[in-house]
Amino acid sequence: MLLDALTRDMRKTVIAGNWKMNKTPAEATALIEEIKPLVADAKCEVVACVPYVDLGIAIEATRDTNVKIGAQNCHWAENGAFTGEISAAMLKELGVDYVVIGHSERRQYFGETDETVNKRVKAALAAGLKVIVCVGELLWERECNITNEVIARQIKLDLWGIPATDMANVIIAYEPVWAIGTGKTATADQAEEVCEFIRMCLKGLYGLEVASSVTIQYGGSMNDQNAAELLAKTNVDGGLIGGASLVAEKFAAIVKAADASTASY
Ligand code: PGA
Repeated sequence: MLLDALTRDMRKTVIAGNWKMNKTPAEATALIEEIKPLVADAKCEVVACVPYVDLGIAIEATRDTNVKIGAQNCHWAENGAFTGEISAAMLKELGVDYVVIGHSERRQYFGETDETVNKRVKAALAAGLKVIVCVGELLWERECNITNEVIARQIKLDLWGIPATDMANVIIAYEPVWAIGTGKTATADQAEEVCEFIRMCLKGLYGLEVASSVTIQYGGSMNDQNAAELLAKTNVDGGLIGGASLVAEKFAAIVKAADASTASY
């Protein structure tokens, strides 16, 4: 469309595992130990977003390696009477690098709205975390041909009030809700179409330079079999991987596919 394909080399390729509510601390240690050697020579950024209780051991286990650790959510308040919640500053002090905000499972099952996503993104950025903001349409919305409207609305609301200078620490993950955990992947063309649209939205909000530099991931049943095709697309700069990130070999294969996809840029 309007954005130059050559801008791909301005962006960091990021492969992030989203472990969701899987792996006890002992299991997490074992999986991290399996993953580490398999991705040790990765050129792309490798991230594992683990359950809160696994963060400490995951950070310890990945010290002096190229694997970065992320959380899967954080609260927007600095502290206070929010039983069961975790603040961005708590994550930062622990040594967490990334946090996923606005995952569709949080929107679907835990009442997350674009307003609360926006508040969490702001709090995470203020604490010095890198944020993976998730957007994506429901199957019903795609069938009604309003995917672009849904995505544009989420991007505008989720990033409301976030200055261009903070966008270096923001990744957008396009995760069509109908593709998450369903084994139903968006085709590479569908993924590219929406990722490119997201970049156009970012261009409208922040201008071409910022839009060209933001990493946009695809997520939704990405695996070792389909990653290469998805990651070959100009505007698909990485992946947010659920199920396949729990199997070290599959996750490492996706990392390798990402490296191969950027080798040509
Ligand atoms: P999936 O999950 O790869 O299991 O579909 C992706 C995600 O929810 O981030």
